[in-house]
Amino acid sequence: MLKIGNIEIDGYPVLLAPMEDVTDVSFRYMCKKFGADIVFTEFVASEALIRDVDKAKTKMKIYDFERPAAIQIYGHIVESMAEAARVVGSAEPDFIDLNFGCPMKKIAMRGAGAGLLRDVPKMAAMANAVVKATSLPVTAKTRLGWDADSIVIEDVALRLQDAGIVALTIHGRTRSQMYSGRADWEWIGRVKNNPQIKIPIIGNGDITSPQKARQAFEQYGVDGIMIGRGAIGRPFIFGEIKHYLETGELLPEPTAKEKVEIAREHFLKSLEFKGYPRGIYEMRRHFALYFKGLPGFKEFKLRLLQSLDTEEILGTLDEIAERYGDMRVQTITYYDEKAPKE
Ligand SMILES: Cc1cc2nc3c(=O)[nH]c(=O)nc-3n(C[C@H](O)[C@H](O)[C@H](O)COP(=O)(O)O)c2cc1C
Repeated sequence: MLKIGNIEIDGYPVLLAPMEDVTDVSFRYMCKKFGADIVFTEFVASEALIRDVDKAKTKMKIYDFERPAAIQIYGHIVESMAEAARVVGSAEPDFIDLNFGCPMKKIAMRGAGAGLLRDVPKMAAMANAVVKATSLPVTAKTRLGWDADSIVIEDVALRLQDAGIVALTIHGRTRSQMYSGRADWEWIGRVKNNPQIKIPIIGNGDITSPQKARQAFEQYGVDGIMIGRGAIGRPFIFGEIKHYLETGELLPEPTAKEKVEIAREHFLKSLEFKGYPRGIYEMRRHFALYFKGLPGFKEFKLRLLQSLDTEEILGTLDEIAERYGDMRVQTITYYDEKAPKE
């Protein structure tokens, strides 16, 4: 069982990773629908929260249907993170997650996100300051270390536990790997199996199939797994994983027609939550990924990505369903594109 504050998840907890520009409310809705146990917002900058920036406030809006849900914050100033945690409290997330893993230059080089892996005492102090500033449970998400020569995750896990962090997600890469290479689950397993570690450990990195999910639980003993890129264009992965872990049976790839229905619902939710035209613009990054791999899809893709007419887009989706019908093509996901080929 995965326990975070009052949240208790039995069985095989599968969490949706925080992803900037991806895990907005419409996408979270879809992942939840297919069985994601906990969802995370995109990360929100502590400084923006304190300055009351509208976009930051929108990002931290949580709806009841998606609970349990966490708001993730990042920053490089201890006091600002504590202040931001107080602001976040007003959105009433189920818990607050601290980003200690973002590798992006503009964030890590300023000492936020993965930058804190180069100053573990500061990371722990920041975690502790946030824990003290809020009555909500506080979790953290980090990487193995700055680079292969400075893997600090074992020490980080102990220090964060001491600082009052109630669960830790480990992405099995270093900062210098960014998103390349492979997530090293051996390190995740090592932390999980350290008898001094009492807090739940959630493993993250490269889970793109039910079989990989099973391996994470069985081989490394983690308390939960978190899925990022493997869910983009494939929010149904949560259902596939749950079904496989509970029954040992692999579900068939959804047909093109079924994917159209999933993409249509996602699109309508995007419009509902964001309005026109933002709901269309922000759906564009998802549309093509639902249908990647379908032969001759380019013409439809252009239409989906260029139109600003809701009815026209819905009509294109109908045409896709008609043209491809029961065809089952394993989508080539965003993940596959970004990962190095073997
Ligand atoms: C587009 C994108 C945006 C991301 N944004 C965040 C973020 O806001 N906060 C965070 O902790 N991690 C972020 N990540 C990292 C993911 O949460 C996750 O740790 C990483 O992608 C590895 O998991 P995966 O192999 O399942 O994708 C992002 C990743 C991607 C691909």
